[in-house]
Amino acid sequence: MGKEKIILTGDRPTGRLHIGHYVGSLKRRVELQNSGLYDKTFIFIADAQALTDNIENPEKVRQNVIEVALDYMAVGLDPMKSTIFIQSQIPELCELTFYYMDLVTVSRLQRNPTVKTEIQMRNFETSIPVGFFTYPISQAADITAFKATTVPVGEDQEPMIEQTREIVRRFNHIYGDTLVEPEILLPDNAACLRLPGKMSKSLGNCIYLSDTADEVEKKVKSMYTDPTHLKVSDPGKLEGNTVFTYLDAFCKPEHFGRYLPDYPNLDELKAHYTRGGLGDMKVKKFLAAIMQEELTPIRERRKEFEKDIPAIYDMLRKGCETARATATATLDEVRKAMKINYFDDVELIAEQAKRFGQE
Ligand code: TRP
Repeated sequence: MGKEKIILTGDRPTGRLHIGHYVGSLKRRVELQNSGLYDKTFIFIADAQALTDNIENPEKVRQNVIEVALDYMAVGLDPMKSTIFIQSQIPELCELTFYYMDLVTVSRLQRNPTVKTEIQMRNFETSIPVGFFTYPISQAADITAFKATTVPVGEDQEPMIEQTREIVRRFNHIYGDTLVEPEILLPDNAACLRLPGKMSKSLGNCIYLSDTADEVEKKVKSMYTDPTHLKVSDPGKLEGNTVFTYLDAFCKPEHFGRYLPDYPNLDELKAHYTRGGLGDMKVKKFLAAIMQEELTPIRERRKEFEKDIPAIYDMLRKGCETARATATATLDEVRKAMKINYFDDVELIAEQAKRFGQE
């Protein structure tokens, strides 16, 4: 048990995916998928989880399922290598969630930092839907149904993985070794850790993977910089300066040769900005060029996939079938471990018959 290396991760379909998703998780997933180091990769669209705080917006979730699927294909997730599926189509996940609920206390959920902040963000106060409150448990079901060993996600998901690990340990302790304890895989670049948070806070200038070249250009030009950097000659600050946060995440040394040959590297660019004499516009132009280089291939691939939408649904349907087969196999083991497999246990019936005096 547990010898295979299995990746699993997913996204809530509440909007098109943006550049924060890309650096925080999508790019890494594609590399992992192509690395050959993993036996299986499962990527899923967490529509049921999206509904936990969008129960009155089923249409929004439905529309974004296809948007996210297109974004996946556009960044290079490949259904030949990864099983791409939709959470709600795997009813075994609900069943697992129901059993796991007995392994988690209310106070433990209340202490989950991600749930805490999300409750504040959504102004739920005392009207928290139970399903929303318990979504870390359903997330544990998502992960363990596929015996995932590796979960590549952003830093904000750390408490979820920790909660999953606790559930796995508790389950295995009570019912015997059945489930696999997953490990989190965080983005490896500090700037990539910061960007997703930034993106969700400044949704106004959020750059989507599906944005046109013009939209990208406009969004970069209107990015927040340093409000005290008024004249080109003024010294500029780097902290809180979105343009530099993006450069930290995306800029590679070779970009200078291509788009800004006056500077040898990012450190020199930063030094000049801090010292004064470097205008925001020049830095923004540089960033825009880098962003276009990164996003153009994604945008073009997306356009291609948009030409055959039925094929995307077909890919998802097949992914759901494959995923369901795996989840079903895990559920068989879980039911057996929990002693709720009444009809496929030949010994049970014989034992009970004997107990009641029949031979
Ligand atoms: N909560 C995750 C997010 O908001 C999405 C998600 C649901 C997920 N289930 C998961 C991620 C299981 C990894 C593993 O991004």
